[in-house]
Amino acid sequence: MSIVITGASGHLGRLVAEAVLDQTDPADVVLVSRDPSRLADFAGRGAEVRAGNFTDPASLAGAFAGATKVLVISLDRVGARVDAHKAAIDAAAAAGAQSIAYTSAINPSDSNPIFVAHEHRETEEHLRASGAGWTMLRNSIYTEMLLAGAEAAFTTGKHITNEGDGRVSYVARADCAAVAAAVLTTDGHDGKEYDVTGPEALGAQDVAALYAELGGRPVEVVPVDDEAYAAGLVEHAGMPEPVARIYTTFGTGTRRGYSGALSTTVADLTGRPPTSARDVLAANRAAFQHR
Ligand SMILES: NC(=O)c1ccc[n+]([C@@H]2O[C@H](COP(=O)([O-])OP(=O)(O)OC[C@H]3O[C@@H](n4cnc5c(N)ncnc54)[C@H](OP(=O)(O)O)[C@@H]3O)[C@@H](O)[C@H]2O)c1
Repeated sequence: MSIVITGASGHLGRLVAEAVLDQTDPADVVLVSRDPSRLADFAGRGAEVRAGNFTDPASLAGAFAGATKVLVISLDRVGARVDAHKAAIDAAAAAGAQSIAYTSAINPSDSNPIFVAHEHRETEEHLRASGAGWTMLRNSIYTEMLLAGAEAAFTTGKHITNEGDGRVSYVARADCAAVAAAVLTTDGHDGKEYDVTGPEALGAQDVAALYAELGGRPVEVVPVDDEAYAAGLVEHAGMPEPVARIYTTFGTGTRRGYSGALSTTVADLTGRPPTSARDVLAANRAAFQHR
């Protein structure tokens, strides 16, 4: 039995690795990075660390050799990652993995305007056809993604958004990791599509109220349309225009109701309730007030 975790050097992957190493014999755990030296601390705990690069398929046979269960963590290269995901899935299946879990997104439907939805949908389709057992970990938007907005709200007293009356079921990254670890260390998850969400779906007014409460100053919601939102990201956040357009689609999809689904997955798989957005933001308050 060998559990292979890709992206193990990242924010999510490190949390998954910690949780799996707490629950499993480290000799059964393989952690993958393009640069294994980033995983030296885990090697010190007895895990095997291997090199693997999704864009260099030749590197992947060795990365997945002997795998029983695999977690493929989606890459951070939005707009240029589907082929890389497919290469990783193919290599894991070719290595004989019985079960492959993939970090997708909630609601990766054809009609979802959020840019990343089609990337996750294409990857899911490839995984379903791989011949291996599969589990879709459809993570909602990380609560930690609110931290950048919190910083802006503290500075300006405004929460500028194109989400309209939409809601988001923000989930703590650590809860996504705990769910992934449960899938890797217990049986019965093949063929499952898990929506991984927080305990509540928050609208813009809820988010502004949290920013105000934690920051100690009033924060007003400023609703804008997609064009104005994208232009603001270019002008005020310095984003390149194509990136701003991609980022804007998250608000578009939320406004149209694609981001608010709630599930009981975190409690069902980990035995404890999901962390509230307030608790995640409060734990990070020092970080965003003093950047
Ligand atoms: N749900 C959400 O709100 C949300 C938000 C942001 C991102 N995401 C997705 O969730 C994933 C995990 O989140 P995170 O916060 O842990 O991201 P992260 O810290 O940026 O980690 C990304 C990981 O991808 C690995 N990676 C990048 N290019 C690779 C390649 N060519 N081959 C193999 N591995 C590669 C990196 O490993 P090495 O550099 O060590 O190789 C790193 O460990 C992200 O990559 C993204 O797809 C979701």
